[in-house]
Amino acid sequence: MLTSEAILPDRPNDKREKTLSSSVGRIYRTDRIEGTVILRGERANVVFCFINEQLLRMKLFFGETPDLRSTPAIVDDAAQPTTVEVEEKDGHIVISSPAMHAVIDPERFSLRLFNGNGELWFEELATEWDEKNKIAFSAVKSSDSHFYGLGEKTGFLDKNGERYEMWNSDVYEPHVQDTDALYQSIPFLIHYEYGKPAYGLLLDNPGRATFDMRTHEDRYTVNIASGELDLFLFNGPSIKDVVKRFTDITGKTYMPPKWAIGYQQSRYSYMNQEEVLDIARTFRKKGIPCDVLYLDIHYMDEYRVFTWDSKRFPKPLEMMAELKELGFELVPIVDPGVKKDPKYHIYQEGVKNGYFCRKLEGDIFIGKVWPGLSAFPDFTDDAAAEWWGDHHRFYIEQGINGIWNDMNEPSVFNDSKTMDPDVVHANNGNPKTHEEWHNLYGLLMSKATFEGMKRGLSGDRPFVLTRAGYTGIQRYATVWTGDNRSFWEHMAMSIPMVLNLGMSGIAFAGPDVGGFSHHASGELVARWTQMGAFVPFFRNHSVIESRRQEPWMFGDQVEAICREYIGLRYRLMPYLYSLFYEAHKTGVPILRALIMEYPEDRAVYNVCDQFLFGSSFLVAPIYRPGVQSRSVYLPEGVWYDYWTGEKHEGGKSVLAHAPLDTMPLYVKAGAIVPEQALRQSMGEQTDEPDRVRFYVGSGGADENSFAHYEDDGRTYAYESGQYRLRNWRLRELSEEGLIIACDYAHDGLNSAQKLLLTIEPVASKPEELSSTGGTEVDTWVYDGDSRRLQVSITANHSFEIRIRL
Ligand code: GLC
Repeated sequence: MLTSEAILPDRPNDKREKTLSSSVGRIYRTDRIEGTVILRGERANVVFCFINEQLLRMKLFFGETPDLRSTPAIVDDAAQPTTVEVEEKDGHIVISSPAMHAVIDPERFSLRLFNGNGELWFEELATEWDEKNKIAFSAVKSSDSHFYGLGEKTGFLDKNGERYEMWNSDVYEPHVQDTDALYQSIPFLIHYEYGKPAYGLLLDNPGRATFDMRTHEDRYTVNIASGELDLFLFNGPSIKDVVKRFTDITGKTYMPPKWAIGYQQSRYSYMNQEEVLDIARTFRKKGIPCDVLYLDIHYMDEYRVFTWDSKRFPKPLEMMAELKELGFELVPIVDPGVKKDPKYHIYQEGVKNGYFCRKLEGDIFIGKVWPGLSAFPDFTDDAAAEWWGDHHRFYIEQGINGIWNDMNEPSVFNDSKTMDPDVVHANNGNPKTHEEWHNLYGLLMSKATFEGMKRGLSGDRPFVLTRAGYTGIQRYATVWTGDNRSFWEHMAMSIPMVLNLGMSGIAFAGPDVGGFSHHASGELVARWTQMGAFVPFFRNHSVIESRRQEPWMFGDQVEAICREYIGLRYRLMPYLYSLFYEAHKTGVPILRALIMEYPEDRAVYNVCDQFLFGSSFLVAPIYRPGVQSRSVYLPEGVWYDYWTGEKHEGGKSVLAHAPLDTMPLYVKAGAIVPEQALRQSMGEQTDEPDRVRFYVGSGGADENSFAHYEDDGRTYAYESGQYRLRNWRLRELSEEGLIIACDYAHDGLNSAQKLLLTIEPVASKPEELSSTGGTEVDTWVYDGDSRRLQVSITANHSFEIRIRL
């Protein structure tokens, strides 16, 4: 709680803009050195470097030669050789790649970027700094500018009019619109104006920075408190192109094991072995699908990581055996704080080998967290990271394949809430102060964890969940959005938050379903579970002493709703898993803001209460209590109500009927959706064949397609070709009928597969079905009431089926 003193004039933490005194000045010389172009200015120099044709790096520097080493955000082999030309034209310096060119005014350093069509897409306004080297960089915005990305931020989808800080922070409360910083810092924004090319801007600086899209009408400003101005500017033209190009250099979402995409249940804490088993047995008894249970901090011996509390968990191996038998994975929490205890082997090893973070003078930084006074591993040092990673064998030996990293901002119970700024991270001989590299701590912890688990699991894919992160975290971990509350407002806010995380490269993310702290009502859990079924990371978690939040804690109706929607997620898993593969390959997120798929639609730039699940489903959650209907905006095209089959022409809003057991859900005509039979866990085998559903009625102008990906869901065998990638196609021929085709782009599973194809709505019984490609139709039936055509086939290579109506 603050009093009015918070707005005292001339207070010390005044956030008003300061006047900065220095700028680059006149450019007096241009040097070309090893693929870079260096502009020497009166007061500072700027180096330009095309990472590839579509991506320009620009760095301000003060000495003779620039330091072009990047932070761990950037993947090592991202750079591609690019032909760069430098010329002087109309008094300007022009630096070109085959796809874009930079135009610099040498009189007063200024930068404009044009694409291959000569369209201006970026215009710098000022690059300035003061005597303390606080840097400000401004670029043009217009009255029609929209901003996306910026990672995990509160507020609405479009970040125009907002100002955010990048400083990883443990914020137990409040998560409200003026909370500047949360656990993740992704200093990447996407700028979009209707009718113009979108672009991306990444500031690769893991220290404190702010992005201000609020203060000025004509510009936005990036302010840096320490470290360097190192910018990456990504050409579009579409928002999807920008996200793809951004993830080309910061990495794609790791391919998780399939179980990590299932439903997950957590609690701070399941207190002992019996309670864990009881929860697992209850899920199976009640027929609610679930793949993962979590162990929060109480499983440890006085919160010492890599230990068990032997009273609460006397026989972990026995517990694990029963969990495996029931089809569960177990994910324990691992925080970075190592208890300062001379009798504790992890502390001893860390001290002896110099693996903990230290001050320049040599003292180990000690801060208070759950275990009391603790030391913190220095993950910037490869040896320390490897040591930490290898200790995860402790969990692997018990049969554990997933780890939950928390408190890794790092959170410390002191005034600054984190590690002292003057801690010096060793960084393999290129030391950095904590002030400069704060935002990397969580990423480097998850990297060490992921890599250690991967080494130890010999062939199985690990799952890592993290609270803190920086650009590139998607390569190593899944992000959950921290300590939200059981507030309807927090459910609503999680939508734009997860959508913007997706546009910031982080496709595998989600909030605690039901809300972490405070006390959930049954209605909230029902509505949040309905939505969560479509969010990439799907975990119900709640705080100690709050009302219990498992799906069966609120009576039969809420339990039935949770069972139904969690079950729906499991049935849609082949579709969802294919979207994960797409994110893993291209960077395009699983949950998509409407603006990503309908960039010309002026109604969608700030839609915060609906989202697309892939491109085929439109999800419109109910996020207020007592609400039984809502308006849903359907973009252009034809949409079907998923529950009733009612057809709607898009480009307008419809009123959806939404009693408690129904969340408005629409599927687009032309959609192709692979499905599977209901399972209680990912590993459960069933004899029922998979199904591919085709929704016809898109008008027939275009062919629709879907890339359907399958592999063993557990190992890295897919990397050596053991996967199947099929491209399904649907073509509607006016009057005559339909063509359904399947192209096998790759078949490393080499097995014939029985499949059901469901095509709907089909107006009348087809006259004939014929197939080419050697795959025979086994049987087909048409049901006039549901207007569904069902075809059984046994497929093992490309084929085409013509349906004559
Ligand atoms: C932090 C985490 C929360 C966890 C708790 C105890 O608050 O964000 O998820 O349950 O610590 O470990």
